[in-house]
Amino acid sequence: MGHESDWRTASTNSAYDVFSEENGYELSFVDCDNDSAKQLEAVRNFIQQGLDYIIIDPIVSTGWDAVLTECEDAGIPVIIIDRTIDDSDKYVSWVGSDFKVEGLACGEWLKAYAADKGITEINALVIEGSTGASATIGRTDGFKEIADREGWTILDSQSGDFTEAGGQEVMESYCQSYAGQFNVVICQNDNEAAGAMTAMDNAGVTYGVGGDVILVSFDANKPYVQMVMDGKINANFECNPMAAPTVAEIIQQLEAGETPEKEIYVTESWFAAEDNVATITVNGEEQDVIYVTQEVLDARPY
Ligand code: AHR
Repeated sequence: MGHESDWRTASTNSAYDVFSEENGYELSFVDCDNDSAKQLEAVRNFIQQGLDYIIIDPIVSTGWDAVLTECEDAGIPVIIIDRTIDDSDKYVSWVGSDFKVEGLACGEWLKAYAADKGITEINALVIEGSTGASATIGRTDGFKEIADREGWTILDSQSGDFTEAGGQEVMESYCQSYAGQFNVVICQNDNEAAGAMTAMDNAGVTYGVGGDVILVSFDANKPYVQMVMDGKINANFECNPMAAPTVAEIIQQLEAGETPEKEIYVTESWFAAEDNVATITVNGEEQDVIYVTQEVLDARPY
């Protein structure tokens, strides 16, 4: 896909670790710099090279059927990781996150947190991820579902492209357009949250525990779980980047002539700076919210 975020670096490192020569793999890796056309070209090059398996982390969720048909015609099994493909099922397996559940969890946590703090009005600003990415679509839909149900106001929702620079730019414009009107900022990844913090610092807006604004992030990369522990980010909803070990298992199953599962969800946790919300209910299932202590932080793998 690219190198737009700390999360992506963790995902890429995981692929290099798992698909190493030492582990018996020859890995061809292309960084597509978040460019969908480049990604389709990379897949076609892999077909030309006659590789045994193609693993794709789709930048956007549509526009895939033609190239996946070409993979199928060439007899090369495709495994999808992280984001979903929504207009074709011509792949063996997908391994990744339920992005809508992440967005729902964020909304349910905010509801419980606001109730505990006696906050009766929510005026939220959302910094979305890259347009057309299933991670963006799921998180946006999930949070909006709760916002609509609870009667919250989403003042604005614009893309920060999952980057720190993008998050800062969007937040700078929000600070000008909505000065004094917002009490919640939802950043759809950690890098955007870093950019939003810089913009709010420059605008004199306080955030986090005891601040004017409740700041929420997604991904929960270790440095940002540290920021949760430090009270700068109120809550962080994990997106697990460790798909590669599961992909290796899928490849082993295919090598053994077995049929892997079509959809495999990675496990994810929710982290908070305060211990006032211990559990939330998402899609009818009670889930823990982890209060971040040094012990929790030390145990984070990435
Ligand atoms: O698809 C996963 C998302 O993409 C992560 O939340 C984000 O950090 C990355 O760029």
